[in-house]
Amino acid sequence: MYQLIYVSDKIATFKPSDMDEILYKAQKNNAKHGITGLLVELPEHFIQILEGTQGNVEFTFNLICEDTRHKNIRVLLTEKTRAREMEGWDMGLSSDLEQSQIDDALLILNNFSEKQNFSDIHRQSLKLLLKSLCHE
Ligand SMILES: Cc1cc2nc3c(=O)[nH]c(=O)nc-3n(C[C@H](O)[C@H](O)[C@H](O)COP(=O)(O)O)c2cc1C
Repeated sequence: MYQLIYVSDKIATFKPSDMDEILYKAQKNNAKHGITGLLVELPEHFIQILEGTQGNVEFTFNLICEDTRHKNIRVLLTEKTRAREMEGWDMGLSSDLEQSQIDDALLILNNFSEKQNFSDIHRQSLKLLLKSLCHE
C-alpha cells in the first residue's frame, strides 16, 4: 500500500455544492480504483489522505492537482505501508467541524507543512489526528 497526504487552500469562491460534487466523484472513482482515504474540509483548507497502490494514488492525485477549486497543494508525506489503514472509507469526509477540531487540524497545517522527513512518531500522530476528525 502507498499513502499520500497533502494540504491545499480552498479558492475564495468555493461553495457548498462544490463539496457535494467532489465527494460524489471521489466516492465513485475511488471505489473503482481501490482508493481509500479521508478528506478534511476546513474553512479555508483541505487535508486529504489517499491510500491504494502507488499507481492508483498517483493517478488520482494528479487529477486532484488539476482541480481549480483548490490551489497551493503541498504534499506532507508519502509512504509505503504494510496494510491498508483507511479500510471502509472510499473517501471519508470530515466537514462542519467544531472549533476545537478546526484548531487541531490547523496544527497539522502549521506544524507539518513543507516538512520532508518525518520521524515515525510524527507520521503516526499525523494519521491519528486525521482519523480522529472523521466520525464514520
Ligand atoms: C480537495 C479535493 C479532493 C478531491 N478528492 C478526490 C478523490 O479522492 N478522488 C477523485 O476521484 N476525485 C477527487 N476530487 C475531484 C477531482 O479533482 C476531479 O474533479 C474528479 O476526479 C473528476 O472525476 P470525473 O473524471 O469522473 O469527472 C477532489 C477534488 C478536490 C478539490
